[in-house]
Amino acid sequence: MDPKVRYVLMFLIALCWLTVGQPATVAARAATIPPIAGEDGLGDPLYPQLGNGGYDVQHYTIELAVDVARNTITGTTTITALATAPLVNFHLDLSGLTVDAITVNDAAATFTRAADELIITPTVALAFEQPFTVTVAYGGVPAPISDAGVPFEGVGWLSYGEKGTYVASEPSGAMSWYPVNNHPLDKATYTFRITAPKPYVVAANGLLIDTIQQGTRRTYVWEARDPMASYLATVNIAKFTVVRTKGPDGLPMLNFFPTALSSHLTRSFAPTTDMIAYYSELIGPFPFESYGAIVMDAPFGGALETQTRPVFGRTATMETIIAHELAHQWFGNSISLASWQDIWLNEGFATYFHHLWTEHTKGPAVFKATMRGMYTTMRARQLSPPGAPAIDGLFDSAIYVRGAWTLHALRLEVGDELFFEIIRTYYARFQGGNATTADFIAVAEEVSGQTLDDFFQAWLYAETVPPMPAPE
Ligand code: TRP
Ligand code: ZN
Repeated sequence: MDPKVRYVLMFLIALCWLTVGQPATVAARAATIPPIAGEDGLGDPLYPQLGNGGYDVQHYTIELAVDVARNTITGTTTITALATAPLVNFHLDLSGLTVDAITVNDAAATFTRAADELIITPTVALAFEQPFTVTVAYGGVPAPISDAGVPFEGVGWLSYGEKGTYVASEPSGAMSWYPVNNHPLDKATYTFRITAPKPYVVAANGLLIDTIQQGTRRTYVWEARDPMASYLATVNIAKFTVVRTKGPDGLPMLNFFPTALSSHLTRSFAPTTDMIAYYSELIGPFPFESYGAIVMDAPFGGALETQTRPVFGRTATMETIIAHELAHQWFGNSISLASWQDIWLNEGFATYFHHLWTEHTKGPAVFKATMRGMYTTMRARQLSPPGAPAIDGLFDSAIYVRGAWTLHALRLEVGDELFFEIIRTYYARFQGGNATTADFIAVAEEVSGQTLDDFFQAWLYAETVPPMPAPE
């Protein structure tokens, strides 16, 4: 059962018992319900320890001073949240680092640590639906997290020496640099106040609100005012050149490029404005208040769709990757996963939409050849079904290729008009929140008026790759 539902049920049962048991006011009764211990996870099938039960975060304020050369961070994270159960204690996720002090509603709280769980006991228990504020003072050298879901060494806060630091967290890395309810089910808004020595520049999500000069150091204040999953929060520090441009409808674009590569990268990323216009037409309005790329001068061959400001390795700035990370802003960022096993809703969609950009710019013949090539690979390698991967298959090519082909097959099944109406309806309904594979299937059936159980069963869950659908 959904932990929130369980807490509400427990609360109601306790309330009924008290109502029968003794005459008192509702408030007095609620106050007498024994508070419970907050849960250490949100029941994710692949990541049971990620996220925590009993509360819902509204906002994070992450205030850190960074020594880039030594890769140390020191500061506070302040969290405003709402209790979804009466709580005697609650958990945050935090890996490594040293916690110095914690307050809850400005009163000192006690805490213990066990693996990646930070367990906080306020002096006064929290009531059901009580808003509360937690401030955690902490610091140290962030250690990358080895995550069974990704094929590389570590996710989270990463250093590339004197050149800089970056954050690429998907799925679990956020807890390497701030205390967090570390699951996309609990999206929140963010403020970053990051201090670094000159001449380092700090890039993060959202809008740059202020730059405060402090002698040899500078504090950058960034605001991300749209709800964001924890793995999409990023802080990148390097000697960047900032390239400001305008997207469609005056969208403020801030790009952060290594100075030596800046004019070359300005050209590489120039198509972004047209891509935003194209996807907005196809899917729905661009979800956020700002956009732009961060490119790091580090041997990192990948890219991550960090919200409003994706991070690219120096060698990962091809047009298809630029389109891919942009498409994630709608699929993955605005509509977020409710469960990590539904990862094809992120990667299958972003892959299909980056190929649609090819269809748009290079024409249907090139697109058809690409899709046919992907089908041949998928068939030859018998790529496994993308609908319910094991943890070590989260970012396999099966998710990207067979996930994208699931959408292409759906398009061939229902026709272009209904397919794009399905996409627009799904986006309109779930933007800014969370969705499951079942939600997407329900929209596809509703919009098309067709029963698609067998279709999705074959593409998402059956071992064998379905036969090539007949072309339109
Ligand atoms: N989501 C990334 C993509 O666009 C892949 C990815 C997952 C990743 N975890 C990561 C990239 C961590 C960099 C770092 O396909
Ligand atoms: Zn992706």
